[in-house]
Parts: sequence; C-alpha cells; structure tokens
Amino acid sequence: MMTNYQGNSSLLTLPADLDPQRLPQHVAVIMDGNGRWAQKRHLPRIMGHQQGVAALKELVRCCRDWGIPHLTCYAFSTENWGRPGLEVEFLLTLFEQVLRQELEELIREQVRLEFVGHLAALPPRLQAQIAEAVELTRHHERVWLTVATNYGGRQEIVQACQTLARRVQRGELAPEDIDETQFAQHLYTAASRDPDLLIRTSGEMRLSNFLLWQVAYAELYITDTLWPDFDRECFHQALRAFQQRQRRFGRL
Ligand code: FPP
Repeated sequence: MMTNYQGNSSLLTLPADLDPQRLPQHVAVIMDGNGRWAQKRHLPRIMGHQQGVAALKELVRCCRDWGIPHLTCYAFSTENWGRPGLEVEFLLTLFEQVLRQELEELIREQVRLEFVGHLAALPPRLQAQIAEAVELTRHHERVWLTVATNYGGRQEIVQACQTLARRVQRGELAPEDIDETQFAQHLYTAASRDPDLLIRTSGEMRLSNFLLWQVAYAELYITDTLWPDFDRECFHQALRAFQQRQRRFGRL
C-alpha cells in the first residue's frame, strides 16, 4: 500500500502495554475530519480526503502488524450524496483511483477487500472495479478490509426486512422463524462478526447511521484527532482504552 511506517519503529510490533489475547477482532472506524484537516491548512477539502486515504492505508498495515483480523471503514454514506456535486465526484473518482493504484499491493499484502452498501447505485465503472478487487482478493486471510460505500445503517435494515418479507411471502420462512441470527444473516455484514470497537475521529459523538445493528455491544472510542492525523500511536491509545473497559454485554 503506501510507504513504510515512518514514525516510532517500536510501534511496528504490538506495544508492550497491550495484551495480545485481548485485542478486538473487528474494529470499525468513522473516518471524520478530513475537511477540517484541510481547512486548518488552507487547503481544498479534497486534499483532506487524499490524506485520509493515507491514514487508512497505515491503519490497515497496523492491523496486519498487530494481528487485528478485521477492519471496517465508513468511506461514503447514503447521506454523502447531499454534499456539493464536485466533492461527491471527487470522492467517487478517488475510490476508483485508490482501487487502481493499490490493488496490486493489496494482493501482495494478502488483504481481503469487501464492500458493503447500496453498491448498485454507484457509477458502473466503480462497480466493475469493486467487483474485480473483491474477486481477486476474496481468498486472502491476513487482514479483511470492509469498505462501507454508499452505506446507510437504516437502509441496510430496511433491505433486510424486504428480503425477509419476500421469503415469508414465498412460504420459505414463517414470521416466527425470524430471530436475531436470521435477521443478521440478511444484512450486508452477514459473513462477519460484529465490531468489538468503534472508533470515531474528530470529536463528534454520533453514530451517523453507521452499522446501527452491528455496534449494539461495541465499545465506543471517540477522539478529537482529525482522521488524517490518526496514526499508530492514536490507534495504540484507542486499543489501550478498549483493554481498560469491562465488556459486560448487559450482564453483571
Ligand atoms: C469524512 O470527513 C470523510 C469522508 C466523507 C470520506 C472518507 C473517505 C476516505 C478516507 C477514502 C477511503 C477510500 C477507499 C477506497 C477505501 P469530512 O469530509 O466529513 O470531514 P469534516 O467533518 O471535517 O468536513
């Protein structure tokens, strides 16, 4: 993916204050603050998104190095279509560019790529690139990177309901057969476990329609750091906070 980690080389291996047995197995990130990062530097917002891609690549490497098998990132929400046309266009072009430029390295690094969201509404060329990248990486096991693109948690839940309703209508399923496990199997994320840790950068205290069902018991970690500045040390701090929490899942 990108250049090698340039910072404190000791952070290439798992920091000693983290327990390798208690790492989250699935981390989800809301990569917020790209625009503010650019504005602070009097740069166009799109440069913040470019820098955001660099931060994401570094986080994927970090998951690989520290043994965190699954990372899900929120790249484009169903609400993001409401941004100015030029920014939307830039973001969609950026996704194409990233896929084109990074695919070879993703393959070399054994990263499995997956996309979740209403993909059929994306530009056909991007859809084709996504399909190719998913196909070429689907057997990889080192790190699983899920990219939520044109994703909305409510939309995901509604489409699961529609699929289930159709199955009931066809007589394949009785309404009382629909339990949490059955329901979760109709979400985009059917194949993966729920995130243990949800990180949101740039200080906002909201879920913004991200993985509404799946984060029911995730630990939330919110940092004021803007996404392009979120580096290994920031991730280290998030994991430390995670390991200090007591996960009770509603029990005592
Ligand atoms: C939120 O910052 C960030 C986004 C809407 C886009 C994030 C996308 C990437 C980093 C690219 C990922 C690409 C691939 C292919 C995986 P913001 O613009 O809302 O920031 P602001 O709140 O400061 O305005």
